Amino acid sequence: MGFEINPYAAFACQTKLDAFTADPESLRDQANRFLGFHTRNRARKPRSVPPPGFRTREAFYHPKILRKVLLSLDFIDEIRDPQARDLFRLAFAATMVSYSNYSYEPSLGRKAAVGRVAATEFPVEESIAARLLDMSTDICWFREQQGNRRPRRRVVLDSFFTAYRRVARDSVDLIVTSPPYLNNYHYNRNTRPQLYWLGLVESTRELKEIEQRNFGKFWQTVREQPNVELDPEIAEPEIMDTLNELRAKTPEKGVYGGRGWANYAATYFNDCLRFARGTHWCLRPGASALVVVGNSILQGIPVPTDRFLAQIAGAAGLETVAIHIPRSTRVGNSIINSEIRVGSAGRKNRLYEAVVELKKP
Ligand SMILES: C[S@@+](CC[C@H](N)C(=O)[O-])C[C@H]1O[C@@H](n2cnc3c(N)ncnc32)[C@H](O)[C@@H]1O
Repeated sequence: MGFEINPYAAFACQTKLDAFTADPESLRDQANRFLGFHTRNRARKPRSVPPPGFRTREAFYHPKILRKVLLSLDFIDEIRDPQARDLFRLAFAATMVSYSNYSYEPSLGRKAAVGRVAATEFPVEESIAARLLDMSTDICWFREQQGNRRPRRRVVLDSFFTAYRRVARDSVDLIVTSPPYLNNYHYNRNTRPQLYWLGLVESTRELKEIEQRNFGKFWQTVREQPNVELDPEIAEPEIMDTLNELRAKTPEKGVYGGRGWANYAATYFNDCLRFARGTHWCLRPGASALVVVGNSILQGIPVPTDRFLAQIAGAAGLETVAIHIPRSTRVGNSIINSEIRVGSAGRKNRLYEAVVELKKP
């Protein structure tokens, strides 16, 4: 069972979880029919149109590529079996940025802006069909491993902060999760192409609503607020000191300086507490949660998010068993002004990835 606020991520997850029930051979046949459809309809004008609400600075697709994309959507629309249609939609969504004028760097941006040449020709249909064949192979593999086992599975398209109560209290054996990091990475904006082109979102207003439910608020939306206070239950001197130090940084920059970033971090830590409360609710006594999270450097100040999360979890009644560091170097993110790149950083200012192992007593 899993929780996700982003409709595209939830759709991808549900479709993958259900995929083992699909017939791999018929999926292969359909992928071949899809290729044939493209060959036969080279000259046809597609019926599908780009999603009207999806606006980008530069055309998202070159006209020749756009035609193939729309033709693909024509084919997908006609698939009667809902599961096969979803697998096709997922294969399209998983490949759609690669043949666009945009790319992930790691945020979604124009290829031209990072010196990459945008494609003017691309075998869109082959790219989608290759994905479908991969899926078909995976389904065969899974069936070989699992025999006739049919695991129960459920994806909840809702925020864990409120929806955790749908889980019976003290019932969960293990939680494995990776919340957004304290790096202002914007999952919702970065999946705009998939959200709009799959028809999961039609307007900016809907995107904003999803954003409101996010673990951590975006710096752009909290920097101008009056001082965001830490929840009084997080009475951890180290966290408070770090926030105070951050708040006092570069006052001349106004909300773009430490003040705005302190609001951002305080909001994030308050959400860590909401997360920890939900985790405490779900776990059965003695059970564990593994939380993958990276540390941060905000305005030059190191923020050990992993240790802070462990302290906050303590306030919600969880014990920290260990903090594992499976990855001791991570490339920085220019948005947070970390200015840290692998290799150039000293030991103290390294970005790393941690797994915080929590346990309910
Ligand atoms: C670091 S990513 C991990 C994604 C996924 N676990 C994976 O490994 O691919 C964080 C995910 O948390 C989701 N998310 C953010 N706030 C959430 C909330 N309040 N409840 C549930 N999911 C949330 C984001 O949409 C994003 O997909």
